[in-house]
Amino acid sequence: MPKDNEVTGAGDRLDVPRLLAELTLAEKAALLDGADRWHTEPIERLGIPAIMMADGPHGLRKQSPEAARIDSRDSFPATCFPPAIGLASTWDVGLLARVGVALGDECRAEQISILLGPGVNMKRTPLCGRNFEYFSEDPFLAGALGAAFVTGVQSRGIGTSLKHFAANNQETQRRYVSAEIDERTLREIYLPAFERVVATARPWTLMCSYNRINSVYSAENHWLLTDVLREEWGFDGLVMSDWDAVNIREDGVAAGLDLEMPSSHGVGQRRILDAVAAGTLSEADVDRSVTRVLELVDRALPALAPGQTFGADAHHALAREAAIESAVLLKNDGGLLPLARSGGLVAVIGEFARNPRYQGAGSSQVVPTRLEDALTALREAFAGGREVTFAPGFVIEADPDTAAPDTADASLVREAVELARAAEVVVLFLGLPPSYESEGYDRVHMDLPAQQVRLLEAVAAVNRNIVVVLSNGAAVTLHPWQDSVRAVLEGWVLGQAGGSATADLLLGAANPSGKLAETMPLAYEQNPTIGNFPGENGLVRYGEGLLIGYRWYDTHGLDVAYPFGHGLSYTTFAYSDLATRAHDAGDRTSVEVSCTVTNTGARAGREIVQVYVSDPDSSVFRPAQELKGFATVSLEAGASAEVSITLDARAFSYWRTALSRWVLEGGAFEVRIGASSRDIRLTATIRLAGEAIVDPLRPDAPLGVWLDHPVGGDRLREALRGSTEYDDHRVRRLRQNPLVRVARMPGFPIAERDVTGLAAEVNAQTETSG
Ligand code: BGC
Repeated sequence: MPKDNEVTGAGDRLDVPRLLAELTLAEKAALLDGADRWHTEPIERLGIPAIMMADGPHGLRKQSPEAARIDSRDSFPATCFPPAIGLASTWDVGLLARVGVALGDECRAEQISILLGPGVNMKRTPLCGRNFEYFSEDPFLAGALGAAFVTGVQSRGIGTSLKHFAANNQETQRRYVSAEIDERTLREIYLPAFERVVATARPWTLMCSYNRINSVYSAENHWLLTDVLREEWGFDGLVMSDWDAVNIREDGVAAGLDLEMPSSHGVGQRRILDAVAAGTLSEADVDRSVTRVLELVDRALPALAPGQTFGADAHHALAREAAIESAVLLKNDGGLLPLARSGGLVAVIGEFARNPRYQGAGSSQVVPTRLEDALTALREAFAGGREVTFAPGFVIEADPDTAAPDTADASLVREAVELARAAEVVVLFLGLPPSYESEGYDRVHMDLPAQQVRLLEAVAAVNRNIVVVLSNGAAVTLHPWQDSVRAVLEGWVLGQAGGSATADLLLGAANPSGKLAETMPLAYEQNPTIGNFPGENGLVRYGEGLLIGYRWYDTHGLDVAYPFGHGLSYTTFAYSDLATRAHDAGDRTSVEVSCTVTNTGARAGREIVQVYVSDPDSSVFRPAQELKGFATVSLEAGASAEVSITLDARAFSYWRTALSRWVLEGGAFEVRIGASSRDIRLTATIRLAGEAIVDPLRPDAPLGVWLDHPVGGDRLREALRGSTEYDDHRVRRLRQNPLVRVARMPGFPIAERDVTGLAAEVNAQTETSG
């Protein structure tokens, strides 16, 4: 057992084939099991060191051996960057890569070989307790951001663990629930972010999820861990379990689950040895996983040289830059923001101003190297210019023993109202108490605590100039309280430098530029999972299918509080000159989309340009529009730039379950350039030739489907030629009947017993001719 994360022999590489040959079966089984909470098993006899992994992912959570034993919240100080909810709102792949590099450097300094993240699960329901650590409700955006993050970390010789594979979209019963998802929905919504990261950033490891998918635990899902992940996507790294996610260990090894984490205290090893002895698990499967563990350790060694450090100040500055880009200006009536540095009194109200909520709770919770609060930052920013007063207004976590959680404290409200009455402008910090959202459970509603809404109403009764700054890790209900305020800055959980970032944004030292990576619905009841969340009897049916997030709201034409992709700036942007250039080449199709973006306001700003594709000609149902590209552009006042985004074949394709692959069906596609999913500025229609889609014929396919099939139709017409009993009229009436049953009818020219063979022949011929 390693005592800490000291690695002896760091820098020496492992001779993997030789070690594999020298290991005993018992040692191999031990290597497939964690040594403790965070280490792989060392085999001292052969000089195989242990390597250490740690959570994040928005900061490093390295525990001491004592803290690890009880999994306490204590960990070594590390830079707390904005969690995924914030980073995703930046839509800035360059920034995510830089944050990744910084995290990689902190790992090197702490001798951590694998950072456990990022999480690219979809935000299926606004209530998921871990939404703060997931990027988006859109797979394209989550995949692009996840890939940038992984590339950044791994560029420092540190591995990542892409998680939680797959369909871990809720905390309720997460260790047991079966996500019931049709294959097309899995392929188009729940898997593509993983696929993109695997294909473009090659994460060293991947972490399987706790849940089942269509009744099979991810930890023993051969289809998921081997057929799709390795054979289709070409993943060449190691798969580890989520912590204690292993069910039947030997089935996991056979399915492609290489490493069990944390230590199973011998149980997993014994099961592996027993299964090999019984002949139900092959030693070849064990060797394959052992090879991956050895390759991982080998890959990790070069970065483990001792004595490395990181620049805490530089990382804090990066955390601040990230926080600035993460915040989203939702509304700004009459240009209330930015606030001038001099002028009348500013009342800062709300406990979150001095007691910031800056990250979520659970395994990703880190101990920051330092922590800023917005109140101090605002006082500094206004010093010598405007007087700042402060009232807490509410207690963040009302004590359940002394007060109902939604009971406004009358004296705190009175104090806040008095300050508001005297002020020219009120900056009101509202948000979700930490206990509302955490790994391990889902939220019970989407609302702010009622006591905070009551405070807002009381303050709004005496002052109309209210800016609300929100602190929350997931979408909240803003309707109808937002009608009583003039500006809303969505401050998410912004990491350790969120305080000064917020002050910079409120005073205009920085220009807000984040955009929503998830829809803010008007009301919880309108979200797509109603009736299908959190499931019942251990099953959660993904009944909304493809219509997650904005796909649902846009397809149903529902009003929302703020749409996906929305975010204001202190400047404005105009879009013009849309041009498309299609290289129409089947699955190598690419379409270059370009436009000019002009900063039409009076100050510099950053715009996030989004490309949505709509497929009106499709023969199958498709969501109204889907994000398929984006770019960010920073422009000085009055400046213009051409933005160019290349869409690939996948941007126009859908998953054809009958063919088990993506197809690009020819026809017209609308390419839409928007400032949000509901603010489409430019559109163009392009035509792509696509492919002729021919599904395999089944014996029980209706006669009409057979007749319309390019090969099967000819064969049937040939057989029917000259038949007086089965003339055109009768055949038309029989079109809906399965061929295998029509073939039983007297006088039908094909016998029932020949239909299966005919189907096989036709399908083979179609494949060769296609
Ligand atoms: C979480 C993972 C985390 C692991 C280790 C699990 O409960 O789901 O995200 O990496 O614990 O702390």
